Amino acid sequence: MERAQKKKFYITTPIYYPSDKLHIGHTYCTVATDAMARYKRLQGYDVLFLTGTDEHGQKIEDKAKEAGVTPQEFVDNIVTGEKGVLDLWKLMNISNDRFIRTTDDYHVASIQKIFKAMYDKGDIYKGKYVGKYCKPCESFWTESQLVDGKCPDCGREVQDAEEEAYFFRLSKYADRIQDLLENTDFLQPRSRVHEMVNNFIKPGLEDLCVSRTSFSWGVPVDFDPGHVVYVWVDALFNYTTALGLFNDKYDDYDHYWPADYHFVGKEIVRFHSIIWPAMLMSMDMPLPKHVFGHGWLLLDGGKMSKSKGNVVDPYVLAEKFGVDALRFFLMRTFPFGSDGNFSNELLINTINVDLANDLGNLVSRTTAMVQKYFGGTLPAGCETYAAPEAYDTELVALAAGLRDRYEADMDACAPHKALDEVFKVIQRANKYIDESMPWALAKDMDANGPRLAHVLYNLLEATRICGILLTPFLPASCEKLFAQIGADESCQTWDSAAVWGSRPAGAAVTKGENLFPRIDMDKALAELEAIRAAAAAPAQPAIELEPWEEEVDFDTFAKSDFRVVKVKACEAVKKSKKLLKFTLDDGTGTDRQILSGIAQYYKPEDLVGKTLVAIVNLPPRKMMGQESQGMLLSAVHKENGEETLNLLILPDHIPAGAKLC
Ligand code: ME8
Repeated sequence: MERAQKKKFYITTPIYYPSDKLHIGHTYCTVATDAMARYKRLQGYDVLFLTGTDEHGQKIEDKAKEAGVTPQEFVDNIVTGEKGVLDLWKLMNISNDRFIRTTDDYHVASIQKIFKAMYDKGDIYKGKYVGKYCKPCESFWTESQLVDGKCPDCGREVQDAEEEAYFFRLSKYADRIQDLLENTDFLQPRSRVHEMVNNFIKPGLEDLCVSRTSFSWGVPVDFDPGHVVYVWVDALFNYTTALGLFNDKYDDYDHYWPADYHFVGKEIVRFHSIIWPAMLMSMDMPLPKHVFGHGWLLLDGGKMSKSKGNVVDPYVLAEKFGVDALRFFLMRTFPFGSDGNFSNELLINTINVDLANDLGNLVSRTTAMVQKYFGGTLPAGCETYAAPEAYDTELVALAAGLRDRYEADMDACAPHKALDEVFKVIQRANKYIDESMPWALAKDMDANGPRLAHVLYNLLEATRICGILLTPFLPASCEKLFAQIGADESCQTWDSAAVWGSRPAGAAVTKGENLFPRIDMDKALAELEAIRAAAAAPAQPAIELEPWEEEVDFDTFAKSDFRVVKVKACEAVKKSKKLLKFTLDDGTGTDRQILSGIAQYYKPEDLVGKTLVAIVNLPPRKMMGQESQGMLLSAVHKENGEETLNLLILPDHIPAGAKLC
């Protein structure tokens, strides 16, 4: 169907801060959006799915400084580098149609025009900001909004902020926003509405500070150098600049805007349901149809965050258990609007129960029986059977009506409920195998052949319908499932999911690989713990040792005279970057002078009084015009490619002149 004939559906994820590598919490939101986008495509919508990265702000500027790179280099590494954001979405089979980076030129230029448009309208004005700022959240707060003096979002310390700044007249839009939240289904789930209205709107919406002067990593305000646009203004408008608003990069703003859904985490609902619509109102732009605020994945009861050191690495889990299993787990286990406690046990259990036991067994038992009893192809006419049992009718009715129940749940942004409906059918189908007992029927194929073929056809049909509806969650596995049960593209469609009997009876079935192998819980947990411990251990420096010398006989070695010496004086040799000159007590009563090339490792004054070891029977030699009567012993190695040297320093009670042997 042409784009013009299809209904459009525009859905977005938040654009991620590339201040650290992404974790399973970020993956959760993106997988949910992906499942919804795939569901809408399955239904025949013209879908645009946008994700991206939000790359400006003080936190990024600070982190880049710490890392000794430019902010652009810093974000490039996390976005496009190995195992970066782009790699992660590719791994997780995310089907986004576009990816926006807020450092992209077209976006920056568009933001400048948007800022100017709101300024020209009088909705942005210049003032002075005095208040608090939470750097990790890039959020401004008034004293009264703080909780116990800390950031109300993340609970961390805030800092005083006072600077000349531009403000957005958020207060002007308070009534319209309250009306939008209370009297429409703009913000979901409904519980979030009360939170926004009671916590933010009723206490009085204050104008919002929308520019900064104390750092420079942001979109410059082009008509007032020194100011950069507040990162949230820059970030929120990504949803429209990525469609071509005020730029030539894309040209489908008119087609896709307003967004049908912004999926966002609960802590950024405030930005999306108050600040965002207010700015759109200022710009006289249509408002997104819905914002859905999902919950957090918690670890040990707290939000995952890199700074708390409790993040779960999606790369590790996807590699161990498979991408589809991880995607499925995230959507199946946690009700989408609520918080959920992540644990490895829960993940493995979900894979074993739902995927290996229920779905995997249904597919493998059914295909194995079609192979065994009918050589892989059921006879024509087996779609119908003259005298169906009650459990036949029950299975057919449950599976044929599944699509509508699933649709209602998906449209209500309750993928966990939609999956629950699918698994009721899968479980019903497994029970149907026990009830119909194909192995018993197979004992007398002459008498029971048609009945057995019908039973297996019913199982293939129930599996096909479930497969279609699982595709948004398990895209790669469902492709394999369709190949195994002999369902070609014509019977993988949304329409065919509501039509029992769409699969031609004679389509060939092939018993393929086990789709979801069972996981040994204890073994997998132990392996994950080992990976976690290795990642938590401080990185070992890469040590390189000097090459070993050739063997010498004992007499040769015994001729080397190693003595304890005490440093009486030590100074740098003029005009030499390397040499230190030591005056040493070697126990003979006569000072010994040794020159040593260790100036880059020690300050001369730190060595005075130290007890060292020298080899004292080397022939004297001249360095920089001065005589050296021996050599001080030190340990030398390379650490992370850099030469490292440690003098052999002995306890002070050992007298000068003592021989080492
Ligand atoms: O907020 N569980 O970026 P971000 C569930 N740049 N979701 C989680 C999570 C967890 N443990 N941890 C993070 C930003 N998230 C802004 C968005 S949009 C115009 C700008 C979710 O990288 C979080 O709730 O800090 C948010 O929705 C998303 O990951 C991105 O977070």
